[in-house]
Amino acid sequence: MRQLQFLVFFLLYFLHPSLSSSSFQSQSLRYKLHRRSPHRRHHAFHLKPLYLSDLQRQHWIRSTIKRNLANSDNYHPTCHQSTSEAFEMPIGSGAYTGIGQYFVRVRVGTPAKPFLLVADTGSDLTWVKCRRHHSNGIKEKKYSGGARVFKPEQSSSWSPIGCSTDLCKKTLPFALATCPVPDSPCVYDYGYSDGSRAKGIFANESATITLSSGNKTKLHGLVVGCTTNSSGLSFGSSDGVLGLGYSTTSFASLASSIFGGLFSYCLVDHLAPRNLSSLLTFGPTIFTSLVLSTPHITPLILDSRLSPFYSVSVKYISVDNETLDIPSKVWDINSGGGTILDSGTSLTVLADPAYKVVVSALSRKLAGLPQVKMDPFDYCYNWTSIKAKPEVHIPKLVLHFEGAARLEPPSKSYIIDVANGVKCIGITSAPWPGTSTIGNILQQEHVWEFDIRKKQLRFEHSKCQQH
Ligand SMILES: *[C@@H]1O[C@H](CO)[C@@H](O)[C@H](O)[C@H]1NC(C)=O
Ligand SMILES: *[C@@H]1O[C@H](CO)[C@@H](O)[C@H](O)[C@H]1NC(C)=O
Ligand SMILES: *[C@@H]1O[C@H](CO)[C@@H](O)[C@H](O)[C@H]1NC(C)=O
Ligand SMILES: *[C@@H]1O[C@H](CO)[C@@H](O)[C@H](O)[C@H]1NC(C)=O
Ligand SMILES: *[C@@H]1O[C@H](CO)[C@@H](O)[C@H](O)[C@H]1NC(C)=O
Ligand SMILES: *[C@@H]1O[C@H](CO)[C@@H](O)[C@H](O)[C@H]1NC(C)=O
Repeated sequence: MRQLQFLVFFLLYFLHPSLSSSSFQSQSLRYKLHRRSPHRRHHAFHLKPLYLSDLQRQHWIRSTIKRNLANSDNYHPTCHQSTSEAFEMPIGSGAYTGIGQYFVRVRVGTPAKPFLLVADTGSDLTWVKCRRHHSNGIKEKKYSGGARVFKPEQSSSWSPIGCSTDLCKKTLPFALATCPVPDSPCVYDYGYSDGSRAKGIFANESATITLSSGNKTKLHGLVVGCTTNSSGLSFGSSDGVLGLGYSTTSFASLASSIFGGLFSYCLVDHLAPRNLSSLLTFGPTIFTSLVLSTPHITPLILDSRLSPFYSVSVKYISVDNETLDIPSKVWDINSGGGTILDSGTSLTVLADPAYKVVVSALSRKLAGLPQVKMDPFDYCYNWTSIKAKPEVHIPKLVLHFEGAARLEPPSKSYIIDVANGVKCIGITSAPWPGTSTIGNILQQEHVWEFDIRKKQLRFEHSKCQQH
């Protein structure tokens, strides 16, 4: 997720050279969706940056996995306590700011301050934009865009992690080796593909959570990064990142270790308005507490080679009940394939041998419609003529997972609105060998429960409406 906002900025900057960098300062990265009317959704200018940021993320996913393969340092989670308690945080689409991620509201520090963080299952670090006072009295440069900024000196629970600790030297991601004096804070430096950076210090901090009983409590011992400099306006419309990945230091690992070893989220439609939110829940949910629902269940693969990503085993894909002929190596981690479920990727990415087969099967069913050219997609259609073509029906895409679980996304999740009257097959390809990624658009309008203790992924269709 690290490169995402930078890319949006990069694109805006170079596609709109008339905009000066100072107008970016004030505008931040609030790239409004273009809408014809409040009731219709059009986002012709929205998908390209989104796709390019997905591309950057794919590079990052590949390099992370490559690094893991070279590293035998495995993550073994601590034992999970059983509990009937749960806590929830509102989660909603960030589309109103022009990004393809979901935002979650989190309260950090003592007294607790609210922040809007990107919910990222591909991230092991939680960080917030931060402004520190230096002993010499110099304040750090203010972040632009009116973002909320965390001020550590105003939080009584803030405790920097020392650079001489084992945590800093061995465990924390992107920690630097520099350690002028043992008490100096542990520094991180995220490198971007373009050479820009995000820098900050790690600390032990608390978050305030609201339990399902309604009582508020604190979650202590979180590793929270205080990002004081992100050059290149890399981080746009959010206040930071909530690390939901599978790793020692992630928020998800700590919170789920206290709350029953599981967490879940329901993603509203990715174009839902700002005021429509759903829940990110740690602890038992409807699936675990009610016998009413019958979710689809598939093994959750917590393979250290794919850490911090959550992986699933696809068995096959069907279009209109017809099983597609995709080489099985595509779904096999040991053959250089495999599939991750990622909340930080928007469009679903299939390794090339699967992409070709799936897209060709879908496009065959839509062959009666006039095609339109619309980068970066291979298949786009003039949808205004669909009523005049009763012989064309929308093909049904189903992902079949290990354990008879089936994901039957609504057609809007894979034949997506791209412009007024234009829909495209919203799947992209990744080079082979490579990992496939189930993005957040394909995950929308479903509840996803990550049971780390039982190593199960449970999911079910849902409108994700809060009651
Ligand atoms: C942020 O980092 C950049 C380069 O990484 C540096 O040029 C700049 O001075 C830094 N800004 C602040 C406020 O520390
Ligand atoms: C909520 O907090 C109150 C006051 O601290 C306590 O009396 C009550 O038992 C708590 N409720 C639950 C369900 O834990
Ligand atoms: C973080 O602080 C808590 C006290 O709030 C302490 O119990 C815990 O050991 C600390 N964790 C780390 C990693 O320093
Ligand atoms: C959300 O905002 C829209 C207007 O932007 C309004 O019509 C709608 O009723 C609001 N929905 C909720 C759940 O508040
Ligand atoms: C797929 O199979 C289901 C159940 O067997 C059937 O109801 C449906 O009509 C089939 N769809 C197509 C497009 O053949
Ligand atoms: C789609 O077809 C309609 C009717 O033929 C035409 O008016 C419209 O311009 C077409 N739209 C695009 C994006 O090509």
